[in-house]
Amino acid sequence: MLPVRKAKNKQLTTMSSTVLITGASQGCGRATALLFAKKGYNLVLAARNETRLEATAKELRSISNSVLAIPTDVGDAKQVERLAEKALGCYEKIDVLINNAGICLTGRIEDTSLEDWQQLMNTNFWGYLHTIKALMPHFLERKTGSIVNVGSFGGKMPLPEMTAYCASKYAVTGLTETMRLELTPKGIHVCAVHPAVINSNFLERAQFRGVDDAEVESRREQMNSLLKSGWVSQPEDIAKAIWDAVQKKKSEVVVGPCFLATEAYRLFPGFLQFIMGARS
Ligand SMILES: NC(=O)c1ccc[n+]([C@@H]2O[C@H](COP(=O)([O-])OP(=O)(O)OC[C@H]3O[C@@H](n4cnc5c(N)ncnc54)[C@H](OP(=O)(O)O)[C@@H]3O)[C@@H](O)[C@H]2O)c1
Repeated sequence: MLPVRKAKNKQLTTMSSTVLITGASQGCGRATALLFAKKGYNLVLAARNETRLEATAKELRSISNSVLAIPTDVGDAKQVERLAEKALGCYEKIDVLINNAGICLTGRIEDTSLEDWQQLMNTNFWGYLHTIKALMPHFLERKTGSIVNVGSFGGKMPLPEMTAYCASKYAVTGLTETMRLELTPKGIHVCAVHPAVINSNFLERAQFRGVDDAEVESRREQMNSLLKSGWVSQPEDIAKAIWDAVQKKKSEVVVGPCFLATEAYRLFPGFLQFIMGARS
């Protein structure tokens, strides 16, 4: 556990807003932390790998009033409770919670194990619920705040051979939309930001499943060529979308060109399923 860094200027950090970001050491989380730092926010950053997290925190300390980096596995409820306690101990209030830590797994349902599903749900769904539950008393007491859940276009439409990933992201969509009904009247803003494919470390770290090594390799190559296509967003695009969503209290944003696909699926789900191969 890294030492808690107290705010350099207590008066300034008490006056400033504070954002807590999970998965903040890389990709979208890191880009979002950078943007919020530039806007004057205090930062609470969480991710598992201490070295990478501290490297990001060090960079951000030249910009932000105050940065607190707490190595945390969001899949572990106790670690998340400790994260919330340390964050509130340091900054007194959290204005924005950004649930962003996520992992990727590609493969058909018959090629994925229960362990694969548990690992994925543990980060992509339970990881979000853990932070929300840990900070809920704080948000309810203050009757204000924003909760942003980073989902995926795979949480708005099915993506072939990504059953477990889509299930985890549809769970995030359900959680976000239902929570919004309950929390909006209580003064709490709840938002989903759904990215398409992003040029981050996500796909490099993604796990692939298939019937044999050749299929696994071909899935990896498919993903790599997708990353080189024009359909890819940058982590900074997601950061901007999150910032905008918080400022304008938006309910949902689908980022990037996949917006057309998710809209088409919303309007014509049967037709899109047919096109994608559900031709029984
Ligand atoms: N990249 C895409 O193509 C894409 C597309 C649609 C949606 N998304 C969503 O966008 C979000 C951000 O993805 P990204 O592309 O920025 O990914 P990324 O570059 O792989 O970064 C993921 C971040 O999450 C952290 N993380 C992973 N598991 C964690 C855990 N159990 N506990 C705490 N932190 C954890 C990682 O650090 P550690 O490994 O050190 O913990 C890292 O900081 C995810 O929710 C993802 O599902 C991504």
